[in-house]
Amino acid sequence: MMPRRLVTVCVAFLLGLALCGLSPAQKTSSKHKHEAQKQSFGTREGRAVNLYTLTNAHGVEIRAMNYGGIITSIRVPDRKGQLADVVLGHETLEGYTPNPPYLGAVVGRYANRIANGTFMLDGKTYTLPKNDGPNTLHGGVKRTFDKVVWDDEALQGNNGVAFSYLSKDGEEGFPGNLKLKVTYTLMDSNELVINYEATTDKATPINVSQHSYFNLAGEGTGDILGHELMLNADRFTPVDKNLIPTGELRPVKGTPMDFTTPTKIGARIDDNYEQLVLGKGYDHNFVINRKGSGMTLAARAYEPASGRVLEVSTDQPGVQFYSGNFLDGTVTGKQGHVYKRRYGFCLETQHFPDSPNHPDFPSTILRPGETFHTKTVFKFSTR
Ligand code: BGC
Repeated sequence: MMPRRLVTVCVAFLLGLALCGLSPAQKTSSKHKHEAQKQSFGTREGRAVNLYTLTNAHGVEIRAMNYGGIITSIRVPDRKGQLADVVLGHETLEGYTPNPPYLGAVVGRYANRIANGTFMLDGKTYTLPKNDGPNTLHGGVKRTFDKVVWDDEALQGNNGVAFSYLSKDGEEGFPGNLKLKVTYTLMDSNELVINYEATTDKATPINVSQHSYFNLAGEGTGDILGHELMLNADRFTPVDKNLIPTGELRPVKGTPMDFTTPTKIGARIDDNYEQLVLGKGYDHNFVINRKGSGMTLAARAYEPASGRVLEVSTDQPGVQFYSGNFLDGTVTGKQGHVYKRRYGFCLETQHFPDSPNHPDFPSTILRPGETFHTKTVFKFSTR
């Protein structure tokens, strides 16, 4: 038998030999295996669109591209370790152009609705293009955050990617050159950390959100009515027939809007409650219960068959719970899956809809010299 020391020396020698045989690229990839991997995904507006893949120590894999800041897939394990893609989306860039439901996109300059496409700021009236009956939804029509090519770079030394976009003064009717950066970072704790940062050279409203549609059983497998949802919100902002907040902050207690204890999304969704009739299901901003301005749990969704859990935390005042009521089977997504009504739900952390027209709501105005910063975390686990 070889003495133990000799064995160690031999093993070290053989390992050294093996390493010398590796190409520099292989060495880099093994050393930095938890950095974003970039691949080209096509072109738009004559610019390169790149798809970034983030993976972590538990095999979680997230893909996002610089067209619309879109998250194209999120693969997470179920309670048996089986991976599935839990967001609706497409396999190709073409699938996203156009992308009427805003699958996976960053929405803005003003996420959700601005009533009658108009607001007043510092004594001046601004008019925006309308794309939702009388309203402006998710920032307008042409150059909204979800349908432009952003600058892109992998984060150095972090498992993430940064997308930056300059929204020019007057673009879609909004004032000021707004410089916006969003970063997606995947942690080994199975958290996707989303940071937004912005500055402007003229006062402007800003409200940004992530519009991923989740189905924790796996995208395209069915509707989301069996998911159990908890919303950390004692109040919500009721809407009028155009889905514009009336200004009231209404207690959820005693209504089908009460998700303060985990409840199946489908349990009351078709109740004859005026707000559900108006929204054709859930399509409402919930006022997050919070003490102070820091990160707070906004929502927890649980899918009983797979055991997958999604927790959403944020520093924002609201979360739009949208139960995918307007998905109607006209979009065919990954693997030929047809996205029918309520096949995905969104938990859009945000400021309240139409805040620029509601002086009582928390302010969404960013002024020159200030830095806008907001953070949302999607945490995946099982039970
Ligand atoms: C809105 C829905 C809208 C959807 C667009 C959501 O944020 O609340 O009313 O239909 O975005 O797909």
